[in-house]
Amino acid sequence: MSPIKECILNKKTKTKPMWLMRQAGRYLPEFREIRKVNPNFINLCLNENLSTEITLQPIERFQFDAAIIFSDILMLPYGLGQKVEFKKNIGPILSNFNLKDLLKTQENDFNKKLLPIYNAIKKVSKSQIINGKDVIGFVGAPWTLLVYMLNKESPKKNFNNDYLKDDYLINELLKLIDKFLKIHIKNQVDNGATIIQIFDSWAGLVDKNSLSKYIYTPTISLVNFTKSLGVPVICFPRNIDDYKEYVKIVKPDVINIDYITDPKKIINEIDIPIQGGMDPTILLSDKENIKKEALLYLNIFKDHPYIFNLGHGVLPKTEPSNVEFLTKLVKDFS
Ligand code: CP3
Repeated sequence: MSPIKECILNKKTKTKPMWLMRQAGRYLPEFREIRKVNPNFINLCLNENLSTEITLQPIERFQFDAAIIFSDILMLPYGLGQKVEFKKNIGPILSNFNLKDLLKTQENDFNKKLLPIYNAIKKVSKSQIINGKDVIGFVGAPWTLLVYMLNKESPKKNFNNDYLKDDYLINELLKLIDKFLKIHIKNQVDNGATIIQIFDSWAGLVDKNSLSKYIYTPTISLVNFTKSLGVPVICFPRNIDDYKEYVKIVKPDVINIDYITDPKKIINEIDIPIQGGMDPTILLSDKENIKKEALLYLNIFKDHPYIFNLGHGVLPKTEPSNVEFLTKLVKDFS
């Protein structure tokens, strides 16, 4: 059994399994080489040979316990026919859409558009380099996708939540997103994904009274669906106030915590396997500091099923040698 699966089944593992969010990406020179000659990010995600190669790059370099498929949560709106572009130094920009057109999306057309992603998952899972390790498929959570689709850019700087007053629009979109996320999850599992992670990067924008409508109910639907396929599901609701309540209501197999969450507090509140937590900016500092922070997490979670990861993605300015150092430290800790 893979180290991550053992951990999820609550077994005591000798060492903590490890992978990193955004482990394939701009901090790796071998990724930047490919990216330089592939300026269109969506096309790169849809190039099954290159996305396979990129997915495997960090596994070859660091021998992580899982590969996460090189794709993006915004491939879902792309599959529904909304235009998605990634602008340098700005991030994703989405086009306006006509709800009626989106609602006409046929499953066949969606599958055809995203086929290269599924082919890449198949290639990755059959690769020698994987050799029994986990292949993580992923989706954006319905709320985070709704935010990008309606806001049409990251809500970091500007978030227009007037749309949320349009009940018809919101309900139709949530139904559509739920339907196609399930198709997207099933396609990933059918092609070799052994774990699904649900990213709810903007969960922190939802006020307490709306958690049920935007976060809990839509996520439970996906968690139950993924479990019904026999595949474990990791949830990452970033910046939420109450991880304990989230876990109690949504019941994922693993909860990924962000870096503002106090690991000492969480260990007393949550009894399911935990993933992540360390601030990715720590990897921009020196080895002494990396060691201190990593040991903090490793010691706190020593007797708890814990998958080592960060509290958000690896930052582009990270030195690969620091990731190497961290990997060795985690592997040697027992
Ligand atoms: O290695 C991995 O983790 C797998 C691949 C992956 C990417 N995006 C590749 C990517 C995953 C799991 C994601 C998830 C994702 N995408 C999330 C959820 C996690 C999070 O970061 O909160 C979100 C919100 C997105 C949307 C997105 N994609 C944004 C906001 C951006 C621009 C900001 C940035 O970091 O560049 C992207 C682009 C993106 N997705 C890149 C990568 C490697 C950078 C592309 C480049 O080379 O320019």
